[in-house]
Amino acid sequence: MLPHLPEGFTAVVAGANGGIGSAILQSLLSSPQTGHVIAVSRSPLVFEHPKLDSITADITTTTGRQALCERVNGRPVHLLFNAIGLLHDASQNIQPEKRLEQLDEVSFAQVMHINAATPALLLAALKPSLQGKHATIIASLSARVGSITDNGYGGWYSYRASKAAHNMLLRTAAIELKRLNKQSIVLCLQKPFQARVPTEKLFSAEFVVKQLIDVMAKRSQETTGSFWDCAGEPIDW
Ligand SMILES: NC(=O)c1ccc[n+]([C@@H]2O[C@H](COP(=O)([O-])OP(=O)(O)OC[C@H]3O[C@@H](n4cnc5c(N)ncnc54)[C@H](OP(=O)(O)O)[C@@H]3O)[C@@H](O)[C@H]2O)c1
Repeated sequence: MLPHLPEGFTAVVAGANGGIGSAILQSLLSSPQTGHVIAVSRSPLVFEHPKLDSITADITTTTGRQALCERVNGRPVHLLFNAIGLLHDASQNIQPEKRLEQLDEVSFAQVMHINAATPALLLAALKPSLQGKHATIIASLSARVGSITDNGYGGWYSYRASKAAHNMLLRTAAIELKRLNKQSIVLCLQKPFQARVPTEKLFSAEFVVKQLIDVMAKRSQETTGSFWDCAGEPIDW
């Protein structure tokens, strides 16, 4: 599955009830290489599995991250997969903006907090389990619209900015973690946006996860701090 990682590896999945989060969780649980998965979500998981240790917490908060850290308890983490992200939320009136006048400071701060600050704060909280001498892959979901080079259409101010900030934070963390664990591989991964894709061409979450696992499997320590699409091609920052 992930050749860099040892047999019986320990994984942490954040956002385990989301589309990609739940698909990666199922994939990890079904692999004989996986030893143990700590899955964190704001809502309880509705199933049990001998390899699964689930925790109900909101890791966008300090208390949620503390609860996760207590469960991990300082043991080495070989795979940290962050599937948390926010594009729109009708309950908070958050929608991708089309024009400058739609920018709202509260919505902007919330999108930045969930998409950019939270993944970095998660790495900070779990740093004792990521540093050391063990192989570790830290993957966090980004989006192609977070690429400044690729921005030819405009719009989506908050989301684009949050994913660009996400990428900068992950790239910076990759540099720090490289000093603390020579085997660390930090990756920003693209999940394809599918809102306007015809139904027959939609990728299932399972298919996307299979691709993302393949992308992770092909990376090495030399490419830590990089940004990849789900077909395995690098994306310009
Ligand atoms: N959907 C797309 O087409 C698309 C395209 C490009 C990139 N992406 C990115 O891919 C990632 C996952 O996508 P997905 O389709 O799996 O999304 P999803 O089904 O909406 O899942 C995202 C998860 O993020 C967590 N989350 C969202 N809002 C939150 C909030 N306010 N507070 C705390 N946690 C929150 C939730 O985790 P829990 O419910 O488990 O707590 C949620 O299930 C995101 O980073 C997204 O930006 C998505």
